[in-house]
This record gives sequence, C-alpha cells and structure tokens, in this order.
Amino acid sequence: MCGISGIISSADVSGKLVESLRNLEYRGYDSCGIALLNGAGATVRKNIGYVADVAEKELFTDVKGRVGIAHTRWATHGKVTSGNAHPHLCCGGKTAVVHNGIITNYRKLKSDLIRKKHSFKSETDSEVVAHLIEENLKGGGSLEAAFIKALRMLEGSFAVAMISPGEPEKIFCGRNESPLILGLGENENYIGSDFNAFVEYTRNAVVLEDGEYAVVSREGYEIRRIGDLEPIERDILRIEWDVETARKGGYPHYMLKEIHEQPSTIGQVLEIPEEHIREMAEKMLSARNLFLMGVGTTYYSAMMGQYYFSSIAGIPAYALSSDEAPESASIGRNDLVLAVSQSGETYDTLRALKTAVKNGARTAAIVNVIGSSMARMAESVIMQGSGPEICVVSTKAATSQMLTLMRLALEVGALNGAIKPARKKALIEKLNGLPSVISDFLNEYSGFARSLAQRHAGHDSWLYLGRGVYYPVALESALKVKEVAYQHAEGMPAGFLKHGTIALIDDKIRSMVFFPPQAEKELFKTTVSAVEEIKARGGKVVAFHSSKSLANSGLLDDQLLLPKAHPFIAPIVSIVAAQLYAYFTATALGRNVDKPRALAKSVTVA
Ligand code: M6R
Repeated sequence: MCGISGIISSADVSGKLVESLRNLEYRGYDSCGIALLNGAGATVRKNIGYVADVAEKELFTDVKGRVGIAHTRWATHGKVTSGNAHPHLCCGGKTAVVHNGIITNYRKLKSDLIRKKHSFKSETDSEVVAHLIEENLKGGGSLEAAFIKALRMLEGSFAVAMISPGEPEKIFCGRNESPLILGLGENENYIGSDFNAFVEYTRNAVVLEDGEYAVVSREGYEIRRIGDLEPIERDILRIEWDVETARKGGYPHYMLKEIHEQPSTIGQVLEIPEEHIREMAEKMLSARNLFLMGVGTTYYSAMMGQYYFSSIAGIPAYALSSDEAPESASIGRNDLVLAVSQSGETYDTLRALKTAVKNGARTAAIVNVIGSSMARMAESVIMQGSGPEICVVSTKAATSQMLTLMRLALEVGALNGAIKPARKKALIEKLNGLPSVISDFLNEYSGFARSLAQRHAGHDSWLYLGRGVYYPVALESALKVKEVAYQHAEGMPAGFLKHGTIALIDDKIRSMVFFPPQAEKELFKTTVSAVEEIKARGGKVVAFHSSKSLANSGLLDDQLLLPKAHPFIAPIVSIVAAQLYAYFTATALGRNVDKPRALAKSVTVA
C-alpha cells in the first residue's frame, strides 16, 4: 500500500525518481509526489492522479536535485487530496518525509505537536513524522539523532524516508512492519518499498528488518537498530528479475501479459526441486493440524489446496482467510501454518503468521517476492518464482500457488501412502503437461472467451457456482470480475444455492456455472442438477465446461466450451478461462484493467 522511492547521486535524480514512481504505481495510485534537495530547503511537488499525469502537470523533472525522495499513495488516513499526498514538510519547510503504513498513536503525537505550535497541512498520520523531527532538532543534536528519536516515538507500522538540507548528502530511512529495501549502485544509491523502485538501475539490494534504520549516502550506507543503535551487517541480495519482465512486452495491459505468461510461470513451479517439495511435505505430514492461509485470491488458492489435500493426500488441510484466522482458529504447538502470498507483505497474512509464531506453531510460506517479510519470517519457504506481477489483479501468481499446493498434496499423498507411486507418477505427468495445455488454450480459446465476455458484459449481477474444487474456482473467478469489471458476482457452492440464495433467481440475475470434466460423474451430475434448479425458476445460465453432450443439451443459455483436460488439472484451465473472461469483460466496459478503482497491489494495513 503506497510506494516509497529515494535516490542519492552525483547527477540530477528527478527523471529517475519519476521512472521509479511509475514502476511502483501498482502499490497505490491515488496521488504522488517528489521532494528534492537543491539549495536552502526541500522542494516538494505533488498532486492527485496517476504518476504520468501528475509528473507532467506539476513539472516534476523541472525540479533539479541530486538527492530526492518520492511516494505514490493509496489513501488510509485522510482523503485523496493534494495536501494529503506525500512528501510532507515540517513547518520550516526543510525536512521532507514520505511514509508507508499506519502510525496508530498519531492523534496523540499530533495534538502534542500542535500544543508546541506546529501547524499541520494534511489530515494524514504521516505528517507527524516531519514535525517530530523538527521538534527533536530544537534541543540541538544531529539530524540523525532527531530522526531516530522520532522513529522511537512512533507506534504502529512504518517505512519512512527523510531528507533535509541539514545533511544534504544523505537519505535517512527506517522501518517497522512495512517493507523497505536499499539498492546499491555505482556512486548512486537507492531506497524503495520494493525492488521495482530501482530494478532498472541496480540488481544489488539490502533488506532492512523491522526496527532498523539506515543512513544512505552516494558512496555507501549504514544500518543500525533503532532501539540500541547496534550496527548491522547484512548480506547483499542479488535480484534476478530483469527489467523487461516487468514491462508489458507488447500487450495492451499487464493483466493480459501476465495471463499469457502462465505456461512459463507454471513451468517455473514444475522446476522446483522435488527434495524441496518433499522437505515441506514432511513438515506438513508431521504437523498436528495443517492450516493454509491467505486472503483474497490467496485464500482461494489455499482453498484449492484444501480440496487437493483432501482428495489426493487424504488429510485435512484447513484453509483460513488470514484476516480472520487469529480469531477463528485456535492454533498452537505442533500445528503448521502455511501462508500463501504473492507480495509476502500482506498485513492480514503477516499478522496471522505472527500469531502462529507467538502460539508456538511451526510456519511455512509460498511467496513470490524475494526478501519479503513472509519469505524471511517463515521457517520453510517455497519461492514460487512467478516474476513481478504488476497488474493489481492476481493471475499468474495465483495459478503458481495452486500448482505448488498440488505438488505438495501429491508429495504428502505419496509419503503417507494415500496414493501409490504409479498414480503419483501419472499425476505428475499431467502436471508436466499443463504448460502446453494452458498455452494451447490461450492460443485457441481466447477469441471464444472474448466473444462470451462481450455478449454478457452488460449484465452486472451474477452468481458464480461450482461444486467440489470448482467451488474455490467459482470464488476466485467471481473475485476477478468484481475487481476488474466492477460487476456484482457472488461465489458459492452450487449445492448451497437451494438453501436460500435460490430465492434471488429471476430473469435479471445470471448464473455462471463451473463444471468438472464429465468423467467426474457424480460431481458433474450434481452440477447439472443445480443448473436445472436455476432454469426451473426462469434463471439464465452461462457455463464453463468441456462436455459436448452438455453443449448440445439445450440446458445452457450460453457457454465457453473448454478443451478436454484430465480432472486433476482441469480446474486450472477453468481458472485461466475465467481470468480471460474477466479481462475481456473489463475491457468491454472500458475499465482501468491494471489499476482498478480503490485497490492496491499490496495491502499492508489492517
Ligand atoms: O500479496 P498477497 O498475495 O498476499 O495479496 C493477497 C490479496 O490481497 C490479493 O490476492 C488480492 O485479493 C488481489 N487483488 C487478487 O487479485
């Protein structure tokens, strides 16, 4: 939620800061701003809107300076206004600050500062940091001491960066429960809330941990603990993502590009060494209870995992929505909590993981972002290796998480004898064939998905239904159209419908039904029953399925006839089909596909 960038160089940094903000925009994009040191004070330019528009309107690159910080915002405290955009200045206009996270004691700090005659220009929690530093400087002492003192006064979560003409050759930054990374260049250094802030300029990074601050100069950096000023030595991390991967590569939107990357990202998951999967599977098997946690899409990935663990490994794996997990489940010693997260920074999942640690549970994670909080916190980690996912809406990261969970379920099933080696081998072969199944699907069926979406884009109230593993498929597919097309879509088990929601059925609400392959006879039959119940009440049904006989039965009002796939991998084909359907619905409606309204890529607040 919000992106921070900072650059210190021997040449002007304004252009690079704008570029960096563009690469961070997926973290939040309601307003943005920059601050540069170039004389007596800090020059700030900011406004509401997307980076490209604001940078042009506010002439960001006309402000010159060799030291600068920048921010792209996703509002938490205070409306979306130019005044609430970052950077924030202290009363004297010297100290400029950008902040991510939520300062929970900001009201108390603010009223103390107002009593001391500080005047505030924004409604944000963040502005207190600039005034605190200014106030701390009144007693004499260094800027660094004033900065540390301010950080020690903050409660809640923060990643903060500060520049001031008092120390014109330094950027000060610190973190607690909000990510912050240093980038190391040639006579030029960077800070960022993630690698995208500086991946165009350097691949060498150092991750700050909670409770640490850094002083960054052109030539180097120093990290210390905020609490006791103990110096920290940390290994340099090499980022393998290339810049081009993070770009659109000819696609009109990142979402479409990322959907099309799935044959390769799924391939990445298949490349994860078997020993690594087995190591995690052994831990899962020895746990008293196994909990799979995520939120939003990752909760649905976890739910897919739950169904695969039940059907393949014959053991319960409880999927929990991480925002509710600490309150809804009693998790303790000998339990294993596996967090699923693209960013590795999501507040709700991080909180659930921390609670698990506190209660003595063992922890594991499936994460995409290297060096992220979850990747560092969990005892065992599988990096899914999907590369940067720029579109706010998760696609390629989600299917990779599902695939990783499928591989884990297979391994657990093999270890506990629930499946024979020959069956494991046969199912692995199906998984190995998935990249080409998805690639063929994308090449041959995209046009059908597009036409279907165009025919139905005008209907904005939907029930998304599925049985068995097609229930989480329906939930995830409904989330996709909600997020990107802003259509009301309620996902539920097809069998649950008749227990109340069926009262909604009329000719206005449409149902989108996800079918298993016909070979799954019982599941297929009961899904047909749900469709019949809807049709009997005058409802209209659109279905995703692969059955020629169903296609010709006259039961459906419209359909996407999917290619035949083995039951083990068919749910992933349905997920990809639904991603395309959501994408084309959104483009038919002229939505802002990569940055849907009100959303942020990484939700790092409660
Ligand atoms: O970074 P994470 O995977 O932990 O994020 C979890 C959710 O916030 C995320 O999946 C969200 O639901 C996406 N917008 C889904 O498209």
